[in-house]
Amino acid sequence: MGIVDFLRVMPKAELHVHIEGTLEPEMIMSKAEENGVKIPYRSVGGIRNAYRFNDLQSFLNIYYSGMSVLVDRDDFRDLALAYFKRAHQDGVRRAEVFFDPQAHLRRGVNLSDVILGLHDAAAWAMENLRMSIDYIMCLLRDLPEDDGISVLQEALKYRGGVGDGWIIGICLDSKEYGNPPSKFRNAYRIAVDNGLIPVAHAGEEAPAEYVWEAINVLNARRIDHGYHAFEDESLIKLIAEKGIPVNMCPLTTLRIKYFNSILDVPVKRALDAGIAVTINSDDPAYFGGYILDNYIAVYEGQGLRLIDMVKLAENSIRASFLKDSDKDRLL
Ligand code: HPA
Ligand code: ZN
Repeated sequence: MGIVDFLRVMPKAELHVHIEGTLEPEMIMSKAEENGVKIPYRSVGGIRNAYRFNDLQSFLNIYYSGMSVLVDRDDFRDLALAYFKRAHQDGVRRAEVFFDPQAHLRRGVNLSDVILGLHDAAAWAMENLRMSIDYIMCLLRDLPEDDGISVLQEALKYRGGVGDGWIIGICLDSKEYGNPPSKFRNAYRIAVDNGLIPVAHAGEEAPAEYVWEAINVLNARRIDHGYHAFEDESLIKLIAEKGIPVNMCPLTTLRIKYFNSILDVPVKRALDAGIAVTINSDDPAYFGGYILDNYIAVYEGQGLRLIDMVKLAENSIRASFLKDSDKDRLL
């Protein structure tokens, strides 16, 4: 078996993927036509050409505009179905999938259409692909906390147990700089009081201080991205000692120009420091690669050994929110 097949068949969990970031240009075109939504592109090639990013914000502008073609329950089902089929080919057996309710509500889309469509797809993939799937709702951190609290309260009726294909967690995404975790302490308190698991994007573009806050103020059970944590030795020590997993997305960091080279993405550094680092795709339709492409990029780019790759896949299963007995079945 070649290395790519080896990396493909390893059972793995995807813990950092935005379902709206799996919207491929072909689906943007077909949904725009189907739903009569005007888009500023005439071809799939024209869409792909627009995917040149300088930083997080330049990506977010395109990402929010792309999702404008998603309108009804079937659109969200089709979007998620396409992702589950694709992820399944890459050996993903468990997916904890982000979505951005506020980005749809503010366009006039019903929350029930978003969540029921996503659940339809999860139910199909759990039945037909034998995957285990749940959702994590994200609050847009550049909007006021009160706005997040009101959508959270509406979304709580779609909370489910682990493996039910409903919402199990709360996260923060969108423009990080200037929107620290502490801005959302009340929203997280409500979410946790209602049984949601807290995680957060932190240290993606903002400094290590934001990672401290995600851990100390929000009690985040996992850190998403976390690159700037590596500028603070005491923080790295704490993350390793507490066993807080860090979900990295190598191809994102190159496309958004956080790093110039794959060598600079701190995957190997995290492994060496004893951190439970995982590899994920983030927004694969925009950043040029699904989870397997990200595994291949770090394997080839960082000179990792096969045993490191096995460890990364094992970390992903262990860092998931599955019950221990279900993790054991995948390991
Ligand atoms: N970071 C912040 N917000 C996002 C991202 C991300 O990687 N993807 C989609 N929204
Ligand atoms: Zn993300």
